[in-house]
Amino acid sequence: MNLRPDTFKYFCEALHQRTAIRLTDNKEYLVESRLGILAKQNGMRCVDDLVVRLRSPGSSSLWRDVVDAMTTNETSFFRDATPFAVLKEKVIPRLIGDGRKPRALNVWSAAAASGQEAYSVSILWNEICGNYPGWKMRILATDISNKMLERGKEATYSNLEVVRGLSRERLDSNFQSQHNRWVVNPAIRENVSFKYLNLINGWPTLPQMDIVFMRNVLVYFDMETRKQLLARLRKVLKPDGFLFLGGAESALTIDEGFEKLFESGSSCYQLKAENDE
Ligand SMILES: C[S@@+](CC[C@H](N)C(=O)[O-])C[C@H]1O[C@@H](n2cnc3c(N)ncnc32)[C@H](O)[C@@H]1O
Repeated sequence: MNLRPDTFKYFCEALHQRTAIRLTDNKEYLVESRLGILAKQNGMRCVDDLVVRLRSPGSSSLWRDVVDAMTTNETSFFRDATPFAVLKEKVIPRLIGDGRKPRALNVWSAAAASGQEAYSVSILWNEICGNYPGWKMRILATDISNKMLERGKEATYSNLEVVRGLSRERLDSNFQSQHNRWVVNPAIRENVSFKYLNLINGWPTLPQMDIVFMRNVLVYFDMETRKQLLARLRKVLKPDGFLFLGGAESALTIDEGFEKLFESGSSCYQLKAENDE
């Protein structure tokens, strides 16, 4: 059964209000395919019935499942390679070279999905932290999808997931094989904590961040939301901190206060000096 146009319209608005995710007009098929299974699991005939339930009081746990289903959680270890090379060779040496105190770097993976981004940063840090005695890195991984956060905390990945982005050497040094799955080693996990955070709601008190990864999430939002998020980020990012966006995203078209750094493909930005407050 096809989704009724008024149901689709209502659902798009409600999803946008809760998540900022903007579905375009031709995305009925996406809603049908992602919510069809959920409707059946909840004993409903079709997605229209599920949306009726979403409109009634007491639907918050169903909404959680809907958000899990409607978010696109595509990710991989060391996604796009260049940002991670820049992190290792330029960003971390520059931050630590500043001789800042306390001797800890705060990193935020702000739409972390199932955790591969945060664990990639942690793996990279463990490879180089011997060069920086006394320094620590704390990585906060947040997402709107509870299902993804659970996966991140479990830190257990399939063969397919680990071959995407990890060399054999990195896999052997940082994971244990268990029942045909790969579990991240405690030394990598201990740098990372996972928390629920909806980027468009009030942010909890966060530490001032040296490095923020807000990669491959702004693409789902409209320009107004992107602008608001970067404006809020300015307050969380240290004046000399670094922001990494996704390859298809650019801070320059959203907020003129940022400048792009390093080689093409770095996806790395910093606040322009005159914006220091
Ligand atoms: C495509 S993944 C990106 C994962 C990772 N950053 C990367 O680049 O590989 C996008 C993530 O953004 C999350 N997301 C979508 N809307 C969000 C919101 N309003 N607040 C927080 N996270 C959100 C989704 O749940 C999803 O896990």
